Amino acid sequence: MTHQLDFHHFPKIDSTNNWAKSNIAHFNPKHFTIITAGEQTAGKGRQGRPWLSPPDVNLYVSYVLFVPNTRDDINNIPQIIILATVQTLHKLGFKAQIKWPNDIVINGKKLGGTLCETLPVKESTAVIVGLGINVNMSQEWLSEVDNAATSLKTEKGGSLDLIATAEAIQDHVIDALDIYLKKGFTPFIEPFRQHLVHKIGDPMRFHHGNNLLEGSFHSINNDGTLNLILNDKVQSFASGEIV
Ligand code: BTN
Repeated sequence: MTHQLDFHHFPKIDSTNNWAKSNIAHFNPKHFTIITAGEQTAGKGRQGRPWLSPPDVNLYVSYVLFVPNTRDDINNIPQIIILATVQTLHKLGFKAQIKWPNDIVINGKKLGGTLCETLPVKESTAVIVGLGINVNMSQEWLSEVDNAATSLKTEKGGSLDLIATAEAIQDHVIDALDIYLKKGFTPFIEPFRQHLVHKIGDPMRFHHGNNLLEGSFHSINNDGTLNLILNDKVQSFASGEIV
């Protein structure tokens, strides 16, 4: 059985993740809640960075689900959402890839990513995964983003239908979340590996806490954690950022 969906759309809001967190007490824990916005005035990226969210060009969405506290695979939820998005983009003709743990890149440039936040709610954890995808953002806006960024419009050389693109991604994400709740990360690990931008032996600079580590990519474990080769030894990481 698929979950019932509750939708909230805002033409303009500070951040869909923030709205979800402020209103979590009103959400039905048995449903999936989906919050979308045309524009965000205080869009948030990972590591406290801002997420540029100009009006009516991009996808800004938060998916909210409630997961029993007994589960130890909550970290995989943003990875599953990224995978479902990448698979949808492939169907639409884009060679999108996953940058571990949950970014999307095309031709080495960042197209989008997720920001996962959690809140304890009774015996469950409310998981709020914000997904931002640059769809029709122009080159002018893209050049305001610090690190190399791209949009689907830039990659295609023409605009996309924003609503149709958002709906295609959403359908795939909802199906994936239904499967995740029943079966965990196992059905997703192989496709996740196949869509990675990283290849074994790729040199890597990796921020972990305050440390900058230098090594090379080794593999992804079955639980979605990263294996790097550092000083000739394999070390696993559950979080961090590849520079
Ligand atoms: C990243 O830094 O890669 C994560 C970007 C996440 C942006 C999305 S847009 C919808 C949701 N609301 C926010 O304020 N952030 C996320």
